[in-house]
Amino acid sequence: MFGISQLQVLSLCFRFTKLILILWGIWTTINNGAAALCASECICRNVFDIEIGSTVRVECTRGDMRTIPVDYFDYNIDKVIISAPANRPNYLTIGPIFTQPIPFVNLRELHIINSNVPSIGQYSFWGLRNLRLIKLTDNNLTSINTDNFRGLINLVELHLDYNNIEQMPSETFRHLTALKTLNLSHNQISTLVPRLFRMLAKLTVLDLSDNPLADLNPEVFKDIQHLRIFKCRQCLLRRINTQIYHLVPNLDELDLGENLFKYLTSDEFISLKKLKKLQLDGNQLSVIVDNIFGNNRELRSLTVAHNRLALLAPAALTNLTTLFDLDISHNKIDRFHLQTFGPVVYTLKSINFSGNNLPLNEIAIVLQILPEIQSVGLANMSLQELPPNFFTYNEHLISLDLSWNMISTFPYKLLTKTKYLQKLDLSRNRLKTLGEHDLQRLEAIAHVDLSKNHWLCNQCSASTMIIFMETTVLNSTIRRLKCHSPLKLYGVSFGELRLEHLDQCGSPYEAQLSVIAGLMLLCVAVLATVTTALCCSRRRAAHYYTNEEKRREKTREHEHDHPEELLGQTELGSVATIHAPYHLTTKGS
Ligand SMILES: *[C@@H]1O[C@H](CO)[C@@H](O)[C@H](O)[C@H]1NC(C)=O
Ligand SMILES: *[C@@H]1O[C@H](CO)[C@@H](O)[C@H](O)[C@H]1NC(C)=O
Repeated sequence: MFGISQLQVLSLCFRFTKLILILWGIWTTINNGAAALCASECICRNVFDIEIGSTVRVECTRGDMRTIPVDYFDYNIDKVIISAPANRPNYLTIGPIFTQPIPFVNLRELHIINSNVPSIGQYSFWGLRNLRLIKLTDNNLTSINTDNFRGLINLVELHLDYNNIEQMPSETFRHLTALKTLNLSHNQISTLVPRLFRMLAKLTVLDLSDNPLADLNPEVFKDIQHLRIFKCRQCLLRRINTQIYHLVPNLDELDLGENLFKYLTSDEFISLKKLKKLQLDGNQLSVIVDNIFGNNRELRSLTVAHNRLALLAPAALTNLTTLFDLDISHNKIDRFHLQTFGPVVYTLKSINFSGNNLPLNEIAIVLQILPEIQSVGLANMSLQELPPNFFTYNEHLISLDLSWNMISTFPYKLLTKTKYLQKLDLSRNRLKTLGEHDLQRLEAIAHVDLSKNHWLCNQCSASTMIIFMETTVLNSTIRRLKCHSPLKLYGVSFGELRLEHLDQCGSPYEAQLSVIAGLMLLCVAVLATVTTALCCSRRRAAHYYTNEEKRREKTREHEHDHPEELLGQTELGSVATIHAPYHLTTKGS
C-alpha cells in the first residue's frame, strides 16, 4: 500500500518486541531489588544489562569462607566477586563448580581474590564460554597448566598476580586464543620455557614484574608479536637480548624499572619505533649515551629517575621531538649540556630535577629554554629559597614540587609570578608561619601541600592561619597541619587549636631584644644614607657604562624569544655567561 514491505513490518515488529522485553527487564529489576536466591555470606544484586538482559551480580567479601556457595547462585549470574579482609581469611579451592551440573553460561567476570586458593583444578572453567575476565590475584597458586584453562575461548583478561607460581609448562595458555591481557606479576617465576605463550597471538599486555627471572628468553616473544605493553619491573635483569625488541616492534609501553641495568648501548631500543612510554628508573645506569633514542621518535614519556647518572650526553635526547615528560630525579647530575635539551624545547611539559646535586643556576639556564614547561620538580635539593624571578620564562607553570627542602620563608614573590599554578608541594620544609598575603596567594591554588613544616603555634604566628582556616577554601589544607613548636603543642593539628589557648608571642626578654634590634636598624639606616650620598657624587662619572649595560640587556631579551638560537651557541660556558639574570645566593650548604 504505502510501500511497506512485509520485511519492514517484520523488522518493526521485532524491534517493538525487543523494546518491550528491555522495559520488562528494567521493570523486574526495579521490582526485585534483591535476588530471590542468595547465599547468606554474599550480597546479590539484580542488574539489567542491555547485552544480556536481566542478570545477577554476587559479592562475597566478608571472609571466613571454606567453600564457594554455588548452589545459591542464580543461573543468570553475570559477575562474581569473592575476597576477604585480612583478619578473616578465606580458604577456597576451585574445581569445576561453575560448570556442573549445567554451566553458568552468562558468567562474564570471575574474581576470587585473597582466598588462599592453592590450585586450579582441571577443566574448572569448561563451558563458561562467555567468561571474559578471570582474576585470581593474591592467592596461593604454585603452578598452572594447560588443562586449567580449557574451554575459555572468549577470555580476554587473566590476572594471576600475587601468587607463588614457579612453574609453567610450554603452551600453558594454548586454549586462550582470545586473550589480550596476561598479568603474572609478583610470582616466583624464574624461567620462561620455550613456546610458553604459544597461541596467544592476540596478547597486547604482558606483565611479568616482580619475578626472579634474571634473563628473558627471546624465543618466547615469537608467539606474542602484537604486544603493546610489556612490564618487567623488578625482574633482576642485567641486560636484555635486543632480539626481543625486534620481535615486538609495536610495543608502545616498556617498563624495565628497578632492575640491574648498568649500561645501555646506543642501539638498545633501535627496533622500538612506536615506543611512547619508557621506564628505566631504579637501575644502575651511570650515563645516557648519545643518540640512544634516535629511532624512538614517538617517545612521549621517559623516566631515568633513581639511577647513578652523572651525565646526560649532549645528544642523549636526539630526535625526541615529541617528548612530553622527562624524569631525571634522584641521580648524581651536577651540570647539563644545554644542547641536550635542544630537541625537546617546544614539547617538554614536565621535568623533574629533584634529588640531584644541581646548583640552581644550572637549572635556571635549562628552564629558560623550556617555555612550554608546566610541571617542575625541585624536591630534595637542600634549597633554602628560590630567587623571585626563577620562573620568568615559564609562564605556563601549573605544578611545582618544592618538598623535602629547607625553605623557611614562604616564596611569595616567586609565586606572584606564576599565575597559572594549580599544584604546589611545599611539604617537609621549614616554614614557621604564613601571613595574610601568603594565604591569599595560596587560596588561588587548587592543590596545596604544606604538611611537615616547622609550624609555630603561638598567637601572632598562627592566628592569621587559623582565621583563614575558618573562613576560606584553605580549610582542609590548614586543618591538617601540625604544630612543631612550642613543645607542649608539638604534633597537635591546627584543626584542634583554639586561638584563646595559644601563648602570647613576645615575652619580656624578647621585648628587650627587639629594642636592641631596633637600635641596630637605626644605625644601619644612617650608614646607608651616608654611603648613598657618597656614591651619588661618583655616579655621573659612571653614566656612560650604565647605558652600555642597558643596551646589552635589550639584546638579551630578544634572544629569549628564540630558544633554538640560544642553543646554537653550543658551549655551555658561553651561554651561561650571557644569561646570568639570577643572583643565586640561595643554595644551601
Ligand atoms: C601456600 O603454599 C605453600 C606451598 O605450597 C604452603 O607451604 C603454604 O602452607 C600455603 N599457605 C596456605 C595458607 O595455604
Ligand atoms: C633521527 O631521525 C631521522 C629520521 O627518521 C633519522 O634519519 C636519523 O638517523 C635519526 N637520528 C639518529 C641519531 O638516530
